Amino acid sequence: MKITVINGTEKHGVTYKLKEIFLDELRTQAEITEFYLPKDCPNFCVGCTVCFMDDEHKCKDAAYIQRLEKAMLEADLLVFTSPAYVFHATGAMKAMLDHFGYRWMPHRPAKEMFGKRAVIITQCLGAGGKSAAKDIKDSLSWWGVSSIKAFSFKLMSEIQWDKITEKKKRQMTAKLGNAAGRIKRIDFTRPARTGLITKLKFYAVRMMQTGLGKDNPEYTDYKYWKKNGWIDNIRPWK
Ligand SMILES: Cc1cc2nc3c(=O)[nH]c(=O)nc-3n(C[C@H](O)[C@H](O)[C@H](O)COP(=O)(O)O)c2cc1C
Repeated sequence: MKITVINGTEKHGVTYKLKEIFLDELRTQAEITEFYLPKDCPNFCVGCTVCFMDDEHKCKDAAYIQRLEKAMLEADLLVFTSPAYVFHATGAMKAMLDHFGYRWMPHRPAKEMFGKRAVIITQCLGAGGKSAAKDIKDSLSWWGVSSIKAFSFKLMSEIQWDKITEKKKRQMTAKLGNAAGRIKRIDFTRPARTGLITKLKFYAVRMMQTGLGKDNPEYTDYKYWKKNGWIDNIRPWK
């Protein structure tokens, strides 16, 4: 099994510890590739729209983005982590997700994403962990991923791992251990089931792309949908 991890912070703090606890259960059977933000995607999207209108390889940050994309497309399991910063995912995570706007379903989603599974791990001191997870889930679901499990923790007292009570550490470890146990039992030779909501989004976009293609058959996104056979009878899920 291949796992690609996108860490929303470079800090080896609580988020890092929680991610390590989760991965430790899977290490013996998984090949793990990790990225740390902002190091592995250090620049903001500047809104040039070259990825949307023309070609993602012409993005000024294509070297970073295509490295991340390759690892994500090759993975059986995607893992995203982030502490809550002012009720949301870290700015570094948001900056990375912005770069993948061209992979949202109304544009040019990757067919591989429709059969993929993902885990999101977030934590916060008291509030904001769930909305941080939602920031990430919004992108993953619009990339076409249906199987997304989010685990969000509230530390409540301390934000330094060494100062967190043993009881709290045991609770978080047990939850992540159970989650990893369930992952271990998945047969990764079979793609995840594409859910109804994802299919409805796909069909709505297909209708939109069909209309856009009638107006302009050279439109970048339409040509991509046509080339994949999605305007015809082929679907990105099995
Ligand atoms: C800039 C910043 C903003 C934060 N905002 C929130 C917040 O809105 N809600 C919250 O409960 N904790 C917040 N925290 C605490 C973090 O979510 C987290 O618990 C803490 O930074 C420890 O995580 P780490 O060791 O992985 O960095 C914030 C921390 C920082 C540095």
